[in-house]
Amino acid sequence: MMRKPVVLITGAGGEIGHGLITRLAASGRQRLVTLDLTRLEPEIGRLVTREFTGSILDQALLERILAEFEIDLVFHLAALLSTRSEFTPVMAHQVNVEGTLTLLEFAQKEGESHGRPVIFVYPSSIAAYGLPDAETRAAAGRVHEDQFTQPTTMYGCNKLYCELLGTYYARHYKQLSAAPAASRVDFRAIRFPGLISAATAPSGGTSDYAPEMIHAAARGEPYDCFVRPDTRIPFMAMPDAVEALLKLAAAPRWQLTRTAYNIGAFNPSAEDIRAKVLQAFPDAAIGFEVDHKRQGIVDSWPEDVDDGAARADWHFDPSFDFARAFDEYLMPAIRARYASAG
Ligand code: SER
Repeated sequence: MMRKPVVLITGAGGEIGHGLITRLAASGRQRLVTLDLTRLEPEIGRLVTREFTGSILDQALLERILAEFEIDLVFHLAALLSTRSEFTPVMAHQVNVEGTLTLLEFAQKEGESHGRPVIFVYPSSIAAYGLPDAETRAAAGRVHEDQFTQPTTMYGCNKLYCELLGTYYARHYKQLSAAPAASRVDFRAIRFPGLISAATAPSGGTSDYAPEMIHAAARGEPYDCFVRPDTRIPFMAMPDAVEALLKLAAAPRWQLTRTAYNIGAFNPSAEDIRAKVLQAFPDAAIGFEVDHKRQGIVDSWPEDVDDGAARADWHFDPSFDFARAFDEYLMPAIRARYASAG
């Protein structure tokens, strides 16, 4: 029986998955197979060829997918985000690290079975960085990929280590084996900034104050931001994040000089975001109620990132700066979303 070539998306029901599936389905070029713990929302589920419900740690389920589909591209999005991971660090390690190891091994087997490398696209994060104090952070400015990689969170440690695991599978797999096992994993990672989507509200992240502020205002609910007004980290609108994943996946291997790439678009302070939301929703009640532990996490992340390598190697070029992200993407889409939700 011929297996069918498809793209596999894990964690498909999450924020990035939602945007990626919508975008890929609109292009109509690829068949999509998804894996998530829970059923996809019906309007997303109907865009995919086959929806598997289960854990990325379930070997029997992965064997079934392997037997049925020829996968040449994996977007491995399943993860517990940074705040959530601090509450359940062991579970975070299981999902974020063991889950990624399982998927890398799965990709290697897929590649071996069809004789070509499987492109494995992995969302890493600015959480992979850990800046020690405010002075260093202010002096560092735009942080390069090889600087300050001493994360302080379980999630950040997981992301950084999985970048290394991916590199192992891509370059050094079974290097001492008597029967050399050719690597069949072409691993590529993006260190995402905080992401803001109009279609979904996030859960469990530490950069969530930005999207939470916007979604609460659109719903007419009061919101207390959990970081100080002067807090500044990089953010990006979801359509640019999705385009970046697709561009990196499509780049010829020889153009890539790194395994993990920074990307950035704008880096407003929490007060800048509040002011912008108030322009659109003048009656919004947005205050500040600092959670010192979550503030500490955000303060360990860079104020901005140097994304020169992504721009040079695979022509990363975001469409949305801060003003356009709000005026042309977030505000119209969020208004429409909550208006139609009644
Ligand atoms: N935005 C994510 C979080 O806050 C980090 O990648 O957990």
